[in-house]
Amino acid sequence: MSTTPNIDAPKFKTESYEVLVVGAGGAGMRAALALTQEGHRVAMISKVFPTRSHTVAAQGGINAALGNVTSDDWSWHMYDTIKGSDYLGDQDAIEFMCQQASEIVRELDHFGVPFSRLENGKIYQRAFGGQSQNFGEQQAYRTCAAADRTGHAILHSLYQQNIRLGTTIYEEYYALDLIFDQQGEVAGLMVMNIHNGEYSILQSRHILLATGGAGQIFRNNTNASINTGDGLGMVLRAGLPLQDMEFWQFHPTGVAGKGMLISEAARGEGGVLRNALGEPFMQNYAPKVKDLASRDVVARAIATEVQQGRGCGPEGDFVLLDLTHLDTDTIKQRLPGIRDISLTFLGVDPVEQPIPTFPTCHYMMGGIPTNLNGQVVCPDSQGKQTPVKGLFAVGECACVSVHGANRLGGNSLLDILVFGRQAAKTISQQLQTEQGQPNLNNLSLDDLELSGVRKRIQRWQSKTSYQEENLHSLKQKMQRSMERGCGVFRNQQSMQHALQELEQLETSLQQVNLRDHGKVFNLERLAAYELENLMAIAKATVHSALARTESRGAHSRIDFQQRDDTHWLKHSLYFSAGDRLVYKSVNLSPNQHAPFTPKARVY
Ligand code: FUM
Repeated sequence: MSTTPNIDAPKFKTESYEVLVVGAGGAGMRAALALTQEGHRVAMISKVFPTRSHTVAAQGGINAALGNVTSDDWSWHMYDTIKGSDYLGDQDAIEFMCQQASEIVRELDHFGVPFSRLENGKIYQRAFGGQSQNFGEQQAYRTCAAADRTGHAILHSLYQQNIRLGTTIYEEYYALDLIFDQQGEVAGLMVMNIHNGEYSILQSRHILLATGGAGQIFRNNTNASINTGDGLGMVLRAGLPLQDMEFWQFHPTGVAGKGMLISEAARGEGGVLRNALGEPFMQNYAPKVKDLASRDVVARAIATEVQQGRGCGPEGDFVLLDLTHLDTDTIKQRLPGIRDISLTFLGVDPVEQPIPTFPTCHYMMGGIPTNLNGQVVCPDSQGKQTPVKGLFAVGECACVSVHGANRLGGNSLLDILVFGRQAAKTISQQLQTEQGQPNLNNLSLDDLELSGVRKRIQRWQSKTSYQEENLHSLKQKMQRSMERGCGVFRNQQSMQHALQELEQLETSLQQVNLRDHGKVFNLERLAAYELENLMAIAKATVHSALARTESRGAHSRIDFQQRDDTHWLKHSLYFSAGDRLVYKSVNLSPNQHAPFTPKARVY
C-alpha cells in the first residue's frame, strides 16, 4: 500500500456563503430560487448536472385540490393523505401542505411549467390512488400533470428560473460531511470537486439539505443511481437521528425484473392489473376503488398474487398492467413516457400488449426529522424536539412528516415545493434578524471540527492492488440482503438475517481498498462515500423495522399483521451510536381542521 497523502488543514480552499443548499432537485431548486430572489448569497451544490437530479424522473403529477375535473377541497386532500399515511403522518404538517397546494401549482404555472390542459384551458388533473371526494365517498381527480413527465417539466422550469436570477451553482461537487465549529454550531460543508478530486470547505451558518432519497439500498428500485442518501449519512455521522426509517414505499408497478417506474398514471387513466388467469384481481383486495387503492395495498396485492401462484411468465413472478382497452390517443398523449419505457426495456408496446410489472422500491417515507419550517430537530435531554441551529432539511431526505407510513402518489412533488419554499422563508427571516453572519470570516480552520471528515478523506485516499471484494460487489450484496430481508413483506427472521449480513458487509467495507491505477480515481472515491451512506441507511432501516412489532402502511410484517395504535402510534428516531431507538408522538392536532381519529383503513 502506498503512503497516505498528508491532508493538512491549509490545503482546503474555503469560500463563504450566507446559505448552502445541498442538492438541486425540486426541493433544493425551489428553496434556492426563493433565497436568491430575496437577495441572499446562496450556493446550491449538486453532485450531478442540476437537471439530472432525480425530480426529473417524477412521472404522474402533483396533487392540489384545484377542482378542475371533479369538485375538490384541501380538507379532502388532507383526509386522504392522513388515511394514506395509516395515521402516522403529522396532521399539522399535512394540513399545512394541503392548504398550500393550489398556490404552489399556480406558481409553477407562472414559472412556465408546461402542464397538460383540459379543453377549457385549465390544468389537466388525473385520478391517482387513495384520492377521494368528500372524505372517502368517490374518486377525486387531483393530480396535476404534464403528460407523464411532470417532474421533468417542473425541474427544468425551476432550473431556468434559478439561472435567470443568477443562483450560484456548484455543479458536480460532492458534499461529504457537515462541518461544525468547536462550539458545535453549523459552520459549513466539506465538498469534493468530482472533476479533479480536490476537497474544499464551503462555510456557512445556514445549510439546507435537499439531497433526495436512498432507494439504492434495494436491488429493484425506481431511483437514479445518485440516490444514495448522502444527506442522511451526514446527519447520522453528526450524531443526529433519522426518523421512521422502517417505512419504504414499494411502487406497485415497476418494470418486471428491472425496477424502472411505470407511473400510477397508467392506472389513473384506466389501466387494470391482471394475474395469470387474466383476472382483474384488485377487486379482491380493494373492492371499492380496485386499482386505485393506495400503493402499499396494491403492492401487497401483487406480491400476494405471485406468492399464491397466480403470477405471469415462465417463472410466475410478475403481473400484467393492461392498457390495451384504452384509446390509443390517450396512451400516446397522456402516457408517452411509460410507453417509451415499456418499449425500451421490455420491447412491449402497451397499445397492443399488457406490461409485465412487479413492485419496486420507490420512496423513503422516513428521513431527517424536521419541523414545519424545515428546521432539523433532535430530542434534547428532556425529550423535547429542539431545532438544530442553522441546519435544515427538505424533500425526500427529510421527514416532516407528511407521508407517515405510506405516501400517496402525487404528494411527493408537492412536499418538495411546499417545504422547499417554507424552509427558504424561514432562513431568509433568520438572516434578516441576525444582521449578517457572526464571525464566519474570522474563523480559521483550527476553529472547525474537522477530525471526522479528515479521517474519511484519508480512508479513501489509500490504495492497494485490485481485490476480489470491491465496492460494486458489496453494494450488490447489500441490495440483495435488503430485498430478501426487508421488502414488501418482512418478519423477525428475515430482518435478523439481513442485519447479520449487513454487519458482515460493513466489516468488509472497512477492509476494502480502492484499486491502484497509480492514483485513486475520483469516481471510485465517490462510490466509496456513497456506499458508506447507503450501508448506514440500510442498517437504520432494519433496526427501526425490527423494533416495530406491528404492521402499518408500507411496513408489513407477517409475524405482526395488525396495526397496533395502543403501542405504535409513534415515530421512531434512530441514532447510529449504539443503534439506539427512541420514539416521539404523532401530531394528531391540526391547527384549523378537526383532527382525523385513526380508524380501520379500507379502500
Ligand atoms: O407513479 C408515479 O407517477 C409516481 C408518482 C409519485 O411517486 O408521486
